[in-house]
Amino acid sequence: MILFKSRSSKVFFIAAIAFCFAFQSSIAFSKSVSRKASIAAMVEELLAKMTLDEKIGQMTLFTSHWANTGPTMDPKNLEQIRTGKCGAVFNAISAEYIRQLQNTAISETRLKIPLIFGHDVIHGHRTIFPIPLAESCSWDLNAIEQAARVAAIEASAQGINWTFAPMVDIARDPRWGRVSEGAGEDTYLGCLIAKARVKGFQGEDLTKPDTILACAKHFAAYGAAQAGRDYHTVDVSERTLFETYLPPFKACVDAGARTFMTSFNEIAGVPSTANRDLLTNILRGLWNFQGFIVTDYTSINELIPHGIAADEREAGKLSALAGVDMDMQGAVFMNHLAELVNSGEVSVKYIDNAVRRILTAKAELGLFDDPFRYCDVKREKEKLMCPRHLNSALEMAKKSLVLLKNEKNALPLKKSVKKIAVIGPLADSTADLLGNWHAVGLASEVVSIVDAIRKAVPVGVDIHYAKGCDVNGNNREGFRKAVETARKCDAVILILGENETMSGEAASRADIDLPGIQNELAEAVSKAKKPTIAVLINGRPLVLTRLQKSVDAILEAWFPGTMGGKAIADCVFGSYNPAGKLTMTFPAHLGQIPIHYNMKNTGRPMSDNKYTSKYLDAPNEPLYPFGYGLSYTKFSYSNISLDSAEMKMGGSINISADIANTGNYDGEEVVQLYVRDISGSVTRPVKELKGFKKVLIEKGKSKKVSFELKSEDLAFYGIDMSFAPEPGKFQVFVGGNSRDTLSADFALLP
Ligand code: BGC
Repeated sequence: MILFKSRSSKVFFIAAIAFCFAFQSSIAFSKSVSRKASIAAMVEELLAKMTLDEKIGQMTLFTSHWANTGPTMDPKNLEQIRTGKCGAVFNAISAEYIRQLQNTAISETRLKIPLIFGHDVIHGHRTIFPIPLAESCSWDLNAIEQAARVAAIEASAQGINWTFAPMVDIARDPRWGRVSEGAGEDTYLGCLIAKARVKGFQGEDLTKPDTILACAKHFAAYGAAQAGRDYHTVDVSERTLFETYLPPFKACVDAGARTFMTSFNEIAGVPSTANRDLLTNILRGLWNFQGFIVTDYTSINELIPHGIAADEREAGKLSALAGVDMDMQGAVFMNHLAELVNSGEVSVKYIDNAVRRILTAKAELGLFDDPFRYCDVKREKEKLMCPRHLNSALEMAKKSLVLLKNEKNALPLKKSVKKIAVIGPLADSTADLLGNWHAVGLASEVVSIVDAIRKAVPVGVDIHYAKGCDVNGNNREGFRKAVETARKCDAVILILGENETMSGEAASRADIDLPGIQNELAEAVSKAKKPTIAVLINGRPLVLTRLQKSVDAILEAWFPGTMGGKAIADCVFGSYNPAGKLTMTFPAHLGQIPIHYNMKNTGRPMSDNKYTSKYLDAPNEPLYPFGYGLSYTKFSYSNISLDSAEMKMGGSINISADIANTGNYDGEEVVQLYVRDISGSVTRPVKELKGFKKVLIEKGKSKKVSFELKSEDLAFYGIDMSFAPEPGKFQVFVGGNSRDTLSADFALLP
């Protein structure tokens, strides 16, 4: 067949292909429109048959739980499934058990409406990935999306079709334990990661049996808890709310997230679970969110201690009127909503809308076509912990590593090292590597760091282990053995940090230095004067000012998941060159908190003058800034250049810089672009991330990295709260972290 004989036949061929594509995508589009329409019709038909009690049942979510012998449901809740009083279940695990519960709903209820099954699938399901904060340090959106995809594949094989993730709370106070569940302190990066995670969980097509509903949580501003104390009060300005805390949620709506979860906190006096402005006006009105909203765990009931409801009845009324669709575990809707409707205090329209949204989600998952489609014992056996998933978890764990210090090139360990001391309370732990919210991950399937190191070393290299001390507590009995072990070895790897319960929910810490006497252990061991490397296992930024004085290198490994041990070993021995960059600032001093890179300049920026914004007893600068992370090689930045010093409104400029790899290893670098708006109708941060590129540069080579910056990227909420760029002077920065940058100026023309 001669395809490209003449120009006209070529044009014809291209046109034919274009037509086929257009035809196919129009078929796909009309299929999806007709599926939408048929779901809507089915939902209306079903709704018309439902009693008020059955409707309220759909708005009720109860937990199952795990007993020693496997998952169980409270007999009381089981009865509620049977009688149609509960439409959704969470924390039920295994294809077989979920099939049983689903069967109860399908065969014993009048309308045979399938249950939806939720779970906190936060960073993997059985194959556990690094905690979300760690993953964010990879700055690798594709890998983050894939991690969520793997989690969805495993969870859905076990009967789960709804994850309570992603958690997209911007967090700037590392005392708050839940920073571990998010993507750090930056809104721009947070939005991109939020989208990647939603896409990963939900895939392209929700009707596929390996895709699950995502749930953007916790709506909203939960991360701004005062003093980093979990569940504490939030009071942020409208501008900060819109500029910093809400965008990742909007990004989730844009990415098609089907569900949202309210947060426990209040904002300026109104708890989120009763916040009509937030749930109905912003989320549904302004952003056109079509999915359903679930509360956080008993957060309707908590409106009473919050002090805005006298009793559960009133709490239920406030939540229903605010726009909540589903009550998680509180049983308030179950116990009070019917009466509120019958008394006319809550219009049945609210109930119908909520049920419509919930049934639509169930239909979108294909549960009305086949309620058991997620309960596939064969798939469960094949997918959980399969080699492909373990490999993705290993790659993600490596990408999440951040090298914070590497004096005298202590890392990677030299070939001449023949005896290695592995010391520290977390060296032999398996459970702690999984971190908080590890779904159904099993410690028994994790290889400890010391074992992973034993496996990784070549023949002829000996490993000597000493625990030294506990994670917490002050028992120094193990110090002697630890020091002796260090003395007889050529290098020391200290495995220090937090245990898995020290971050996550209800795990705020007032002091975020290394817990217990671990700093003392590091100091004692360092007296052996051997190259000493600290590997940190933890869920939040720590204050490492003391530790960094006693060790040569610090590798931040976070809670790295099932394959963490191997990832660390690969990095320590140099078969992997770390490239992670911090997505949260590491303070130099506890008293600096909250500290983040994009702070405001103030009217008295720090100088030698006493009357400027600073501390008497601590620096303003953090120990390790946002965006920071070393490599085994060195990168040098030069030649920042702009293709124009003027940007037109609606236009763009191109910014580039040369990055040279001047060290001895090939390496990846996350090149970051920041902007400062010099003067606006309201004050602007000293730097704002606007772009990044992760590039591989071979040793001895250099690369020009360019960014396109559009005028719309400069938009912010101005004095009148309209979102737009304002003409004027700007500075642009390119660098390998938020502190060490090259800069240039440009102007945005009116
Ligand atoms: C947490 C949520 C979680 C829910 C269900 C709550 O305590 O705040 O993040 O999804 O429990 O486990």
